[in-house]
Amino acid sequence: MKTTIVQQLEEKRRGARLGGGQERIDAQHKRGKLAARERLEVLLDPESFEEIGMFVEHRYHDFGMEKNRIPGDGVVTGHGTINGRLVFVYSQDFTVLGGSMSEANANKICQIMDMAMKVGAPVIGLNDSGGARIQEGVGSLGGYGEIFQRNVNASGVIPQMSMIMGPCAGGAVYSPALTDFTMMVNNTSYMFVTGPDVVKTVTHEEVTQEELGGAQTHTQKTGVADIRFDCDIDALIQARRLFNFLPSSNREAPPVRMTEDPADRIDLSLNTLIPENPNKPYDMMELINRVVDEGDFLEIKPEYAKNILVGFGRMSGSTVGFVANQPMHLAGCLDIDASTKAARFIRFCDAFNIPIVTFVDVPGFLPGVNQEHNGIIKHGAKLLYAYAEATVPKITIVTRKAYGGAYIVMNSRHLKGDINYAWADAEIAVMGADGASRILFRSEEEEQRKVLEEDYKQRFSSPFVAASRGFIDDVIRPQNTRWRICRALTLLRDKEVTTPWKKHDNLPL
Ligand code: HXC
Repeated sequence: MKTTIVQQLEEKRRGARLGGGQERIDAQHKRGKLAARERLEVLLDPESFEEIGMFVEHRYHDFGMEKNRIPGDGVVTGHGTINGRLVFVYSQDFTVLGGSMSEANANKICQIMDMAMKVGAPVIGLNDSGGARIQEGVGSLGGYGEIFQRNVNASGVIPQMSMIMGPCAGGAVYSPALTDFTMMVNNTSYMFVTGPDVVKTVTHEEVTQEELGGAQTHTQKTGVADIRFDCDIDALIQARRLFNFLPSSNREAPPVRMTEDPADRIDLSLNTLIPENPNKPYDMMELINRVVDEGDFLEIKPEYAKNILVGFGRMSGSTVGFVANQPMHLAGCLDIDASTKAARFIRFCDAFNIPIVTFVDVPGFLPGVNQEHNGIIKHGAKLLYAYAEATVPKITIVTRKAYGGAYIVMNSRHLKGDINYAWADAEIAVMGADGASRILFRSEEEEQRKVLEEDYKQRFSSPFVAASRGFIDDVIRPQNTRWRICRALTLLRDKEVTTPWKKHDNLPL
């Protein structure tokens, strides 16, 4: 190639890499944000990024746009690797017209999504954009529509992750909402359908961007985002960590990582995890941390519906999805938020061949007018539905209480739990002995009622009634939990289930 052409190429590449210019990159840094390409450097393995469409420009002329053409057009797209595994990425460049979505840059995003679907690799989108490019009108709107359609097509086929690292407003929020995981950065990212100004005009409510749609709001109140981080670097490093747990597509088994943690490890401390007093809480997280390989557990939605824990760990090196009632919050009751949180997680695991381990300590569904009027019936049904339809290996361990409808919902044998164990002190019953005796023996004197309550406890408040019916496969000692799960997972590795043909299901929404 002639030297001049090489020089021209390098010159063009340098220009494209600068995006909206050094001044705007500096402004990005001043706000505590990394630039689009810097983010990819943190996310991907060194030297692994290969860019696609670096020289793409928009073709609009209105409002002087012909003088405002920047190669790449405000989004950096391509592929690279994370720990050696292929991933497709796009990173919106706020320095170019506020990272706004144009017809041309939407095409670039669609191109890498199409490639990801063809080869079966995840897509991670780094969002930092002022929304639809106003100068393009419906052209940019069409671009969003094309992306949404691809998000839906890819759902359940390849994992999709969204990192919100700046503004994400208007209809733009619906792409992250369609993806599997959304992470946000404190103070610099926000998501809303209509911003504070529009809210004020329409409803006269005064609210800041942060309150309306900041990272705290979406990880604690709405559940729109899964995890929040203090800075871009933290967020991107944790995105790598999450990626490492996931298979590349629904055609693959989850990745296996070498571990030194023996599958047959016994943990004596688990024998004293449950307090003597059945109404006293304990931290279910401790059980999960002690059971998974090397105590490495990545919790999803740690700040939302804390009465249920969900997240990824590994057993004998392979990814497992954990779902567990958390007695530390609302006594581990199931409510609307807990049901939707766990249902979505279970459906992700099922779509991507990730076995599910469920730890149960649930006194029931949370009572209350608020819960009933907000639809606990249909939302609780989502959790039931998710467990019942899941065909991946499903293992359940009842650690303490499994009462009533919540017993059934939490991956009981009746919902095709493959291996169901209970710890020796567990109680599997319609309700606790106290509540039951107050209903059954309400006309008895208190003293007699207490006697009858004890009788009820002896008969029903144990795992052995359920075990005698075959609803529980074995009653196990807490110390053996890890190796019993590892062994059950090995047993179920080649599980296959045939389900009846349907176009798609009709999950209660
Ligand atoms: C074109 C845009 C833009 C947009 C920002 N810019 N958003 N250009 N289209 N949507 C440009 C600005 O003009 C500015 O250019 C540069 O990006 C940086 O923006 P600033 O306003 O200086 O930055 P900041 O103060 O940080 O404010 C960021 C912002 C604000 C809050 C995002 O720019 C803003 O409100 N933008 C408009 C948001 C919006 O209404 N978008 C459309 C939503 S509707 P110069 O050259 O002056 O530096 C939508 C529909 C999607 O998205 C539908 C999908 C179904």
